[in-house]
Amino acid sequence: MITFNQKTGIFHLSAQNMSYVMQALPSGHLIHLHWGKKLKNAALDYVIDEIKRASYIADTDGIKEFKLERLPIEYPAYGNSDLRTPAFSLIHEDGSNLSDFRFISYEIVDNLLKPKSLPSLIDEKGETLIITLFDKVKEIEMKQYYGLNSKTAALIRFVTVKNKSNKITKIEALNSACVHFEDTNKELLHFSGAWAREAHRQQNSLTQNSQVIESRRGQSGHEHQPFIALVDSLVTETTGSVHAMSLIYSGDFKASVTTEMHDALRLQIGLNDYQLSWNLLPNEEFEAPAAMLVYAENGLREMSQEFKTTYQNFLVRGKYKWQKRPILINSWEAFYFNLEEERLLKFAEESVNLGVELFVLDDGWFAKRDNATSSLGDWNTNYKKFPNGLGSFSQKIKALGLQFGLWVEPEMINPDSQLYQEHPDWVLGDCSRNLSLSREQYVLDLTNPEVRDYLVKTFIDIFNESAVDYVKWDFNRSLTEVGSDYLDASQQGEVFHRYILGLYDIVERITAAFPDVLFENCAGGGGRFDCGMTYYMPQTWTSDDTDAIERLLIQEGTSYLYPSASMGCHVSASPNHQNGRLTSLKTRGVVAMQGNFGYELDILKLSKEEKCEIKNQIALYKEIRQTVQFGELFNLSTAQKDNAKAWLYRSQDSNEVVVSYVQILSKANTPSKRLRLSGLQATADYLLVDTGEIRSGDELMAIGLAIDEVKEDFYSQMWRLKKC
Ligand code: DGJ
Repeated sequence: MITFNQKTGIFHLSAQNMSYVMQALPSGHLIHLHWGKKLKNAALDYVIDEIKRASYIADTDGIKEFKLERLPIEYPAYGNSDLRTPAFSLIHEDGSNLSDFRFISYEIVDNLLKPKSLPSLIDEKGETLIITLFDKVKEIEMKQYYGLNSKTAALIRFVTVKNKSNKITKIEALNSACVHFEDTNKELLHFSGAWAREAHRQQNSLTQNSQVIESRRGQSGHEHQPFIALVDSLVTETTGSVHAMSLIYSGDFKASVTTEMHDALRLQIGLNDYQLSWNLLPNEEFEAPAAMLVYAENGLREMSQEFKTTYQNFLVRGKYKWQKRPILINSWEAFYFNLEEERLLKFAEESVNLGVELFVLDDGWFAKRDNATSSLGDWNTNYKKFPNGLGSFSQKIKALGLQFGLWVEPEMINPDSQLYQEHPDWVLGDCSRNLSLSREQYVLDLTNPEVRDYLVKTFIDIFNESAVDYVKWDFNRSLTEVGSDYLDASQQGEVFHRYILGLYDIVERITAAFPDVLFENCAGGGGRFDCGMTYYMPQTWTSDDTDAIERLLIQEGTSYLYPSASMGCHVSASPNHQNGRLTSLKTRGVVAMQGNFGYELDILKLSKEEKCEIKNQIALYKEIRQTVQFGELFNLSTAQKDNAKAWLYRSQDSNEVVVSYVQILSKANTPSKRLRLSGLQATADYLLVDTGEIRSGDELMAIGLAIDEVKEDFYSQMWRLKKC
């Protein structure tokens, strides 16, 4: 619910367990009063009067002791007496970079609004508060959007800036959300890593400085999730408060927390400003990406559940939103570029026998692509590998009873390609420089509408020709020497953001043309695992690292933010191709069953026993799939702190429970261990499906299940429980 008190100027946005409160002062400054526990009335107009004065700070508007730098400003500007880190920066045509936005009006609408050209939540039953601010000297209008959805306590924020003058203003920074905290007794939580070790949970203390989480790679990146949170230092799964922000965007972002000299914090998230310089022409409007703010009173599980429930209900779209995802087999780690139709058909046939539902033809099927050096851009079938064309191959796969999936990397071009011969000017980058190749490829300039139209037509034709049921959309390099020959000199500071707008344009058009096709997002694994791409594609290949043990941390971090159904997890070969580790097929299966399950190894090389085990794994996953993909996740122990990782899925109706446990290293002379469960009904009895025993919920949560004593690294166990 959103209310406004005319007398005090107080706005109160409230959802279950959460209040967000602001005040428009008589001076027109918008002040932040509270984001956290739900308040009954939020009559907080006394707070400003109770703020103590501080020395060496300027007065505002000529009013003695009216010091902006002491106030919790909602969306701080540069150009007044508040010298702390601003939330935005505009440079006007006269060279001035001062701004002064004051409250003009507000509006509350019955719909959850989103930026028009960018992804965000969709919920007609939600509501939005729009606060209009105006800089009367420069005639610039700014609107602050605050949206509530109808189901969770997540808050959507974004900002638009409109130029109402007849001069050009440049946007040099524009955060989507900024929140002031008086309580500095907090720590920073974020998820970081690199290629093949994404989304590791990190927590560190704050001190009087700024800490930045960002991407400068042109993609949200393997390095940091577009996410930042402040947590109580002793936060656990179930205790401690969390204030989290995530950006619904796939390009360069910046999230920061600044501890200022008077012991307050500013938490911000938005577009990365380091290369941003956007020309806002007269009458034009610029919109910042949407940020999602989640407050949780009871630890990380509550935060995680808020994010995931919100994404699953309002961000994920289309036919597959609630549809069980198929069990797939992917050709990549089985054959890499060495694709041969005959062998692939045998591989597919064998996978049908094992219960696989979807066959995915990965990289290497087109032009003369035998390795990474050529052919990206030439999306015609390689007839040496598929003598009768891709359409015919797809039909043969379907005739076996499998769905057909295809890998593509539309945004890329190899210099060794026909497309490059014809359109060298379509490459993104400042061509007066020596452009860097990465994986032997350049990026196409998606700021150019001609390139975008070409890609949309090309891929619509390919997907029609091969009658795809599934598409894996890959992206395998970062942007370097960024510039665009298509844009003019004054627009070079717009390239990063325009690239992402171009990307969203093509994925919207292509996915809309194939409402029945399941799209999987991928960027060398989790390099663009973000909410922006999740809006267009309901699932993502979590990481190029398929080792079960490394996946424990990767999947743990990822699953704090994203629904299980969005997280691709495959069983691959042992020794693992990324790190050489040997793990049992059982453990690889247990770990891959944490998300969207599949296989990525040459099953033709497996023994009869191994195939039999895979058949059993697939049969088991089919039984637990609904619970895993759409149930609620409970982390029971974390691979980061413990020498083991355990998690539990509870079905939506709470009747089914799947518990998984992976020991990491075996240790001598340890006492016997038990695994205490969470999320059960204390008063209910549960059947342990494998043994037929009955245990009560309170005992399972207080005493737990016995863990096998084994002398074996990477040992795993799985239990299924049904409520009696
Ligand atoms: C990177 C992906 O993450 C892999 O799964 C595979 O599709 C390769 N690209 C293919 O080039």
